[in-house]
Amino acid sequence: MEFNMENTERPTRPLLFDFHGVSMTHYFTDNWEKVQNFQARPDDILIATYPKAGTTWISYILDLLYFGQSAPERQTSLPIYQRVPFLESDFHVFPPGTEVADKLPTSPRLIKTHLPVQLIPKSFWEQNCKVVYVARNAKDNVVSYFHFDRMTKVEPEPGDWNNFLQRFMDGKMVFGPWYDHVTGWWEKKQTHSIIHYMFYEDMIEDMGRELDGLCSFLGLSPSVEEKERVIEGSHFDNMKNNSMTNYSNVPGMDFKISRFMRKGKVGDWKNHFTVTQSEQFDEHYQRKMNNPNLQFRTVV
Ligand code: A3P
Repeated sequence: MEFNMENTERPTRPLLFDFHGVSMTHYFTDNWEKVQNFQARPDDILIATYPKAGTTWISYILDLLYFGQSAPERQTSLPIYQRVPFLESDFHVFPPGTEVADKLPTSPRLIKTHLPVQLIPKSFWEQNCKVVYVARNAKDNVVSYFHFDRMTKVEPEPGDWNNFLQRFMDGKMVFGPWYDHVTGWWEKKQTHSIIHYMFYEDMIEDMGRELDGLCSFLGLSPSVEEKERVIEGSHFDNMKNNSMTNYSNVPGMDFKISRFMRKGKVGDWKNHFTVTQSEQFDEHYQRKMNNPNLQFRTVV
């Protein structure tokens, strides 16, 4: 599978448009027919997240759990975005996500998506595939999204922080409103035990505990040493310094503006929100989030 890193020129940032009621850019809809008709296999594991919720982190954890021992060469030769294809992506400089997934030699296949639950290709449900969903509190999520959109040209123009925050509250982000995404997946989980719903903040607080929960969901029983290896390898500093996980070799990202592995913290929102912005955001949040069972922490 050829990943052409030479063609880094992208003339303009993509525009947002409405796609089945969700804001999208063409990078995630150009290949839609193949996405919708994608043939999942029963042992596929779908990693689902809202953008910037910790997708790369959980992807690497799963990759280490499944292949860290059996295929150590993957760890040094294949960047994480090639090991874990991004299902709906069609960036043109890379093969589309469906094609990469179709050609993945591994079993299980780890496949990443940012799609809201209602847009997931039906074969994942038909095949009863396991899904690992990671959610992150809205305030840190929007901050991370802002810096990401500043540094990558595959995203719409972010504008200034105040405008970006308003757009986030209005749900005019790629992959739609955060509020609907986290709630939609949470509600689906109530009737689908094949969904394991995790929180970024819990992972920061106690990765050992979260890894145990994840392994029990997946039916894996790694040794103590293996678990330590996964926790160590997926630590923020190690992922930041690892060229296979830090996205440093991806075209179209300007690390002079912001790094992909930026801070990896809970509570960085406090360095961005003014008191007024925070109050307005909280007030709006209360109106948008009406499932009392879904609670996020903005500090740990
Ligand atoms: P920040 O921008 O707040 O630093 P995604 O992979 O979904 O795009 O999410 C990226 C966010 O997850 C970034 O957040 C990134 O730093 C953070 N992240 C990635 N790996 C991490 C790790 N090992 N520990 C904590 N945070 C991590």
